[in-house]
Amino acid sequence: MDARQFDRVVDRMQSDSAQWDGAPAIFGTSDILPMWVADMDFEVAAPITEAIVKRAGHGVYGYTFEGDSLKQAVIDRLRTKFGWHVDRSWLVFSTGIVHALHMIIRAFTSPGDGVILQPPVYYPFFSAIRNNGCKIIENPLIERNGTYGIDFAGLERAFKPDDSGLRPEPSRARLMLLCSPHNPVGRVWTREELERTARIVIDHDAVLVSDEIHAELLFCGHTHTATATLGEDIARRTITCFSPSKTFNLAGLKASVLIIPDPRIRAVFKERTAGFLSTPNVYGLTAMEAAFRHGDPWLRELRTYLEGNRSLLVEFCRTRLEPITVCPPQGTYLAWLDCRRLKLSDRELRAFMRRTAKVGLDDGYVFGSGGSGFQRLNFACPRSKLERALEQIESALKTL
Ligand SMILES: Cc1ncc(COP(=O)(O)O)c(C=O)c1O
Repeated sequence: MDARQFDRVVDRMQSDSAQWDGAPAIFGTSDILPMWVADMDFEVAAPITEAIVKRAGHGVYGYTFEGDSLKQAVIDRLRTKFGWHVDRSWLVFSTGIVHALHMIIRAFTSPGDGVILQPPVYYPFFSAIRNNGCKIIENPLIERNGTYGIDFAGLERAFKPDDSGLRPEPSRARLMLLCSPHNPVGRVWTREELERTARIVIDHDAVLVSDEIHAELLFCGHTHTATATLGEDIARRTITCFSPSKTFNLAGLKASVLIIPDPRIRAVFKERTAGFLSTPNVYGLTAMEAAFRHGDPWLRELRTYLEGNRSLLVEFCRTRLEPITVCPPQGTYLAWLDCRRLKLSDRELRAFMRRTAKVGLDDGYVFGSGGSGFQRLNFACPRSKLERALEQIESALKTL
């Protein structure tokens, strides 16, 4: 096995793929190279397919539950990858993180409560808050020369009750959604940044939701710190969202796990989401265990390949996509292209990428404040596809 396996182009059309089959509806044209939704164009690790095929061969697909062997695989993974010693009772399985985020907000807020997020950020964070009748409290990231940081003074302020007089009741932030590593800007938060964040959450007696779905997709030189490993006091108020779906390309199998160390928070969560939360399906559970137990050789090669794609992208931008710039992401397989110097409105930029360059990217503005003038590009694809997309953007730039 080597990284060149990822050069292979897999035809994903007619596989009910959101990325490919869904693109014409999303982008309004079928003549588009899709580089948007965060899944990979790669075939998964062979042991995962083998485990699914074996399970399919059993021929009985009754109700599922999470067995001890799967739970042990999760526990072993968190210990070996992040030095986190997790008790079996802390694990709560769910059918995807977005669904879980909705359920968490539902469980720990009342309509009108504030929930903090740090834009530009993964856009379903916004709808999860809004759909629960809560108020979005933004603490925008600070951008300096293309790299992003947390505005800690802003975070302190965000936790203070809203006494603007605009609302009848001051809305207090009870929850904070942390994206770690951060989609779309690709930051891997340092231990120190996480410690400062944790301190503020503790001081304001809030609950922290730490979405760590990208935790295992890091580039050389960066290390993920699981927020809950920073200390007892933050662990007690953190719900960590974890999943093999980004790392091992299993998003369609809808299997994820929440780690909730505090018994009271866990009990409240289970009680208030009873009937709304279900166990992952039989293939999701099977794939999760196989990925965590046997996926590492594949993952090592994947990281090497993504590192190569990232270098290509950064160099291409630097030499051939002027004035578009990109700061090399520290983690994730998403590039946050700064197109502001094109001086196009968001509508024009969208039309430029879709109609002129014919590439399907995510518009930056959907990620909230600070996203205007940016485009998010998914580079988890065979290099030939990435080259083609960049060349299409290069040609389109000549028309401006
Ligand atoms: C930060 C983050 N959380 C959650 C998800 C989606 O998770 P799921 O497919 O398990 O709902 C994504 C997908 O891109 C993501 O980037």
